Amino acid sequence: MNKPKNFVDMIHNEAYLEPFRENLITSESLINDFGRTIELLNGQWSFTIDPYDTCLRGKWWQEENRDKQGAFVPVDYNFKDWELTTVPSCINLQKPEYFWYEGPAVYTREFPYYEEEGNERVYLKVGAVNYEALIFINRQFVGRHLGGSTPMFVDVTDFLNKDIGNETNRILLVTNNDRKPTQVPMQNTDWFNYGGLYRDIGLIRLPKTFIADTFVGLKKGSGFKKIDVKVSVEGPEQSGTASFEIEELGIFQSLEITEGEGSMVLDAEPELWDVDSPKLYDVVIRYATDTLTEKIGFREIATRGTEILLNGKSIKLKGISAHEESVIGGKTMTEAEIRENFALAKEMNANYMRLAHYPHTEKAARIADEIGMLLWEEIPVYWSIAFTNPDTYSDAENQLCEMIKRDINRASVIMWSVGNENADSDERLSFMSKLAIKAKDMDSSRLISAACLWNKSELKIEDRLTEYLDVMGINEYFGWYDPHFEKLIKLFENSKSDKPVVITECGADAPYGEHGTKDELWTEEYQENVYIQQVETVRKIDYMAGFSPWILYDFRCPRRTNRYQQSFYNRKGLLNPEKTEKKLAFRILQDFYAEWK
Ligand code: GCU
Repeated sequence: MNKPKNFVDMIHNEAYLEPFRENLITSESLINDFGRTIELLNGQWSFTIDPYDTCLRGKWWQEENRDKQGAFVPVDYNFKDWELTTVPSCINLQKPEYFWYEGPAVYTREFPYYEEEGNERVYLKVGAVNYEALIFINRQFVGRHLGGSTPMFVDVTDFLNKDIGNETNRILLVTNNDRKPTQVPMQNTDWFNYGGLYRDIGLIRLPKTFIADTFVGLKKGSGFKKIDVKVSVEGPEQSGTASFEIEELGIFQSLEITEGEGSMVLDAEPELWDVDSPKLYDVVIRYATDTLTEKIGFREIATRGTEILLNGKSIKLKGISAHEESVIGGKTMTEAEIRENFALAKEMNANYMRLAHYPHTEKAARIADEIGMLLWEEIPVYWSIAFTNPDTYSDAENQLCEMIKRDINRASVIMWSVGNENADSDERLSFMSKLAIKAKDMDSSRLISAACLWNKSELKIEDRLTEYLDVMGINEYFGWYDPHFEKLIKLFENSKSDKPVVITECGADAPYGEHGTKDELWTEEYQENVYIQQVETVRKIDYMAGFSPWILYDFRCPRRTNRYQQSFYNRKGLLNPEKTEKKLAFRILQDFYAEWK
């Protein structure tokens, strides 16, 4: 198409995003970085919100401030004059005027790079950006990542200025948390849409040939007597001999790598990892000049009929759901806040948490491995999704692969969930069954699940997706959205299941300190009574394998506008948003979990 003679690219080119549809950063380049040194680029970055996407329209990342004749021209940015923001953090909590911000924003900083080992490779790791990230280094477009809760890894070696006389490097990210109908999730969610560069960012130095990915775990069905080892390498040395070492088990084994891959099954009888004794072993894998260390808990998760088996023993998943949410940091949670959540779950006699509705920070599973907590991890295929859109499917599948590749060595993670509360349709079934098959194909060592709805007209647990799941999660709000509590036991009496069922959500709203009778909505007494009735029913259903009520603590939610009871918070928490006060219902769950077998 010929451009009009008065065409001005910056104001007339609505195809300005086209050049950035290339270089999609996906799970393909995600590497196992457990134990690797990451040179963090966290700290003070120059920042601006950019609601009209002017950075991309005006190509600020090229830092061109002269015309073709070399004369200086005015530009609409000056990185050095911008405000400073702390990375990692959520834009919305940086200052009051940004609270409701949704849209593009620009982060940039300079950093030095000194080549340490000749021929080293340098990967950039970004823990997560919500939702879309475009990465530029030294005026060049590096790549684009989609997905608000999974990491991106990209080889930036060729983009870096090696230190030649203090020349630094400039990195610039354009983030965008706009909610869109083709994204995963789409526009309508029951949580706050925090935006920005909200998890750690840094550089990882690697040798030319390095260990890119590993799986180390008990071989399922081996009677806890065999260890499965898989290693893949990147780089020119695609064939050679790796070494695999678990000193505490007296394992010093070589492993042949051919065409970049190597695998083996070893005889071993490790002390098994479980919630009360979360034993972790130091694993060292060496190949070429690279060394990767891991901390591995050996455990087996399986099902037998309607039971869930941990290391061959039938267990109940005594759980609670939680968002990745902090009053102070939004989705940017500190390690202390993560540990506090697990401590509260332990205090509740829980052994399990449902990390809803998207992959939480990798720190969560690493800490859960250490302190002993079972985890359900989930991708945000939430409520309505563009189930017929192939790009939407690719986005969902990539988030699933990134979640699995990132946490595949975490003993605490026992379930991968492919979604939450999606209305049954042929398109949805095709989309989600494909995800479930993909998850099982990537990781046969864990259980595949989803939080489903049930047949309301026949008051029956049935969902065509169940055929593709190992465990069926169901969300039910009897006592709250449906006040006719007597239906809950009927739902279970009308249903039968040949596989484990977990109640993945139930509950009621009550702002902390709101008191009245058990029949008054929004009171702690009402919420407590819902829990009393819920646990009484759960106790009676022998095929109930787990329970993770909604939710550990209140969380920000723009859909909840009751001025006194909600004020933009979902109040179904068993604690207030600051987690300083427990509501009456906390004890009901705590007592139930103390004796539920
Ligand atoms: C749904 C949904 C949650 C939501 C909850 C509620 O089940 O899965 O994300 O917050 O109900 O209505 O409180």
